[in-house]
Amino acid sequence: MNNNIVVAIDGYSSCGKSTLAKALAKKLHFIYADSGAMYRSVALYFIRNNVDISNHNEVVKALKNIHLNFHSRDYQTHITLNDEDVSAEIRQMHVADSVSAVAALHDVRVEMVRQQQRMGKSKNVVMDGRDIGTVVFPHAQVKLFMTADPKIRAERRYKELLPTNPSITLEEVFESLAHRDYADTTRKESPLIRAEDAIILDNTDLSPEQQLDFALNLVKPLII
Ligand code: CDP
Ligand code: CDP
Repeated sequence: MNNNIVVAIDGYSSCGKSTLAKALAKKLHFIYADSGAMYRSVALYFIRNNVDISNHNEVVKALKNIHLNFHSRDYQTHITLNDEDVSAEIRQMHVADSVSAVAALHDVRVEMVRQQQRMGKSKNVVMDGRDIGTVVFPHAQVKLFMTADPKIRAERRYKELLPTNPSITLEEVFESLAHRDYADTTRKESPLIRAEDAIILDNTDLSPEQQLDFALNLVKPLII
């Protein structure tokens, strides 16, 4: 079997990237790598340690103290930050609201991209994020650029957050996603853009099963 296929999935916040990436990896027995969880974990460390992101030396020093590891259990993201499982905490709103500023920093991106490229060496990998098809794996065999109606995206994320954040409102979630999309697409460093050779997948009206079928039709012919 061909054992260095990279599927790169980029797109806006909450449009189904990780749902698709996980399902695809599970179906094809590929490794699933959630690059957003890495940026979220760095943001969490910065929050906890009051790292001043406008201070270059502080950022560089903090990065040296951050050790991230993925532990794959049934294709769910389990990420450890210095040996502590932070998979649940990184999904909280306080992290979501600070992650884009952290992810815009040059030093943070250089370090994350280095680690992500190492994960994709000599393995079959599905990785989702914002710059996977443009910067991390520009030669990925399959590139998808995912999008969906912003209202639908907010509703989907709201449903996810509500059980652990009963006071959250749909408007808050909508604003948070809009703010993040703006920051991610307009930043100087590796902004979210569609790679020229990426296939657009708008899943506004697609179920998770339908989007999986769409992607499987692209990847399966490459597996020999
Ligand atoms: O799941 P969701 O789409 O809400 O976000 P995520 O994939 O967990 O990513 C969180 C944030 O990390 C994004 O809003 C980006 O600011 C940043 N990120 C990035 O800059 N580059 C990546 N490859 C992945 C995430
Ligand atoms: O990774 P990203 O932030 O792009 O999105 P996600 O976490 O995969 O999906 C956000 C929410 O949308 C999840 O609750 C998914 O179950 C849901 N979803 C959906 O309802 N229909 C789809 N076609 C894709 C995702």
